[in-house]
Amino acid sequence: MGNHFWTRRAVCFLFIMPLIAGINAVVVNVKTKGAKADGKTDDGQVILNAWKEACSGGSPPSSVLIPPGTYLAFPILMGGPCKGPIEIKATGATLKAPPELKIFKTVNTWITFLNIDRLTINGGTFDGQGHDSWRNKECPRCQRPVNIGFSSVRNSLIKNITSVSSKYFHLAIGDSRNIRIENITIHAPENSRNTDGIHIGRINDVNITNSIIKTGDDCISFGDGSKNIRVENVTCGPGHGISVGSLGKYPNERPVQGIWIKNCTLTGTQNGVRIKSWPDSTSTTVSDIHFEDIVMDRVGNPIIIDQEYCPGHTCKKGGPSSRVKISNVSFRRIRGTSTTKVALKLACSAGLPCENIELADINLTYQGPGGGPATSKCDNVKPNVVGQVVPAACSGGSVHPRI
Ligand SMILES: *[C@@H]1O[C@H](CO)[C@@H](O)[C@H](O)[C@H]1NC(C)=O
Ligand SMILES: *[C@@H]1O[C@H](CO)[C@@H](O)[C@H](O)[C@H]1NC(C)=O
Ligand SMILES: *[C@@H]1O[C@H](CO)[C@@H](O)[C@H](O)[C@H]1NC(C)=O
Ligand SMILES: *[C@@H]1O[C@H](CO)[C@@H](O)[C@H](O)[C@H]1NC(C)=O
Ligand SMILES: *[C@@H]1O[C@H](CO)[C@@H](O)[C@H](O)[C@H]1NC(C)=O
Ligand SMILES: *[C@@H]1O[C@H](CO)[C@@H](O)[C@H](O)[C@H]1NC(C)=O
Ligand SMILES: *[C@@H]1O[C@H](CO)[C@@H](O)[C@H](O)[C@H]1NC(C)=O
Repeated sequence: MGNHFWTRRAVCFLFIMPLIAGINAVVVNVKTKGAKADGKTDDGQVILNAWKEACSGGSPPSSVLIPPGTYLAFPILMGGPCKGPIEIKATGATLKAPPELKIFKTVNTWITFLNIDRLTINGGTFDGQGHDSWRNKECPRCQRPVNIGFSSVRNSLIKNITSVSSKYFHLAIGDSRNIRIENITIHAPENSRNTDGIHIGRINDVNITNSIIKTGDDCISFGDGSKNIRVENVTCGPGHGISVGSLGKYPNERPVQGIWIKNCTLTGTQNGVRIKSWPDSTSTTVSDIHFEDIVMDRVGNPIIIDQEYCPGHTCKKGGPSSRVKISNVSFRRIRGTSTTKVALKLACSAGLPCENIELADINLTYQGPGGGPATSKCDNVKPNVVGQVVPAACSGGSVHPRI
């Protein structure tokens, strides 16, 4: 009997092993590795071990499966390089960060992905439990962590995930290339500080589509070195809108070049589409930025270039102007309502006026106290107007085309 058993086992083994190796990739289930999923025990180490096993073991593509359940997880760094493509499948799972800031004394991100090629994250809710940290009672000087951070990640896809109540930015992506983000949901309350939805910088080729972002800060923000970015069908609000910048605060900032924002809706945001740079700034360039088919629904500053961006107003009045050069920017087919009178504001640098700014088919109406028409204001720019632009471009501003 023993012999027979072993023979059958051996036959099965011979037939099945090649199939497993070729078709069925390694799947590491965190539950079978000991995750408690009780929402109280720290499962971070188990998830990390599962990652390490999937990343380095067997025959790729491999995956880490996080089954439905609630997992408390202390900060995790999932690093590569891995043997091949790797996927995290977390549909139905909720990962919760510890609420206490002191746990993040030595790390600036809750969940970090570092140095990975061909990563897929599919599904899952990432709850930063940031409520206490926004009020900053517990540890006023503590740095607050990003919810999910990506650094040196290439050829990757992030889809169907939800990020809620991050302590700081929800998603931050840097030093990466070729990333697709689709069907993600982000939410944090309107009054949560610095909870930007997606912050991107030093990155080439990112597409963000079909997503909903409600936060207390920028919906999507583009830092220096953002190149070849496409955003399509994203709904923002509440929050501060879609922002290029702020730029010019630090030395050696890289150019921002090639951003297309299409088919987006902004609802109840402080700003709509914005490019911002600091006065008396360091120098860099912003070019080839296009905003098209945007709906503004009760937005504070629907269209705004602000080269005197200075939150807290700590900058010298009348000091040197921004050294960030803005050129080749278009605003096309933008309509809706503004809650401030100046619905269209192009405040460009006196020292480096904006060049080649196009305004085409714009219809913004003022909806706020006092009523009346919306107005525009332009400084140091002479926009090219195409089709009908309401409010008429720069009716209330001064035009100084200084080239
Ligand atoms: C989008 O993601 C949600 C989970 O957040 C999922 O339920 C839904 O099926 C996804 N939609 C598409 C079109 O993939
Ligand atoms: C996730 O998104 C893809 C589209 O990219 C969709 O086909 C799939 O059904 C979604 N998965 C889940 C589990 O929602
Ligand atoms: C983004 O979309 C553009 C145009 O559809 C495409 O050429 C490019 O390959 C896409 N990039 C990624 C990372 O999906
Ligand atoms: C736009 O995104 C929303 C939210 O994810 C989705 O429900 C809708 O189907 C998308 N529209 C198109 C045309 O893809
Ligand atoms: C973009 O908007 C156009 C016109 O409203 C619509 O036909 C198209 O489906 C939209 N595309 C996406 C991806 O939402
Ligand atoms: C702006 O566009 C023009 C063509 O329309 C091009 O010649 C020029 O190089 C562009 N400038 C920048 C800085 O991209
Ligand atoms: C602009 O929008 C308002 C309000 O929706 C509308 O009454 C008006 O006809 C529009 N104007 C143009 C030029 O499309």
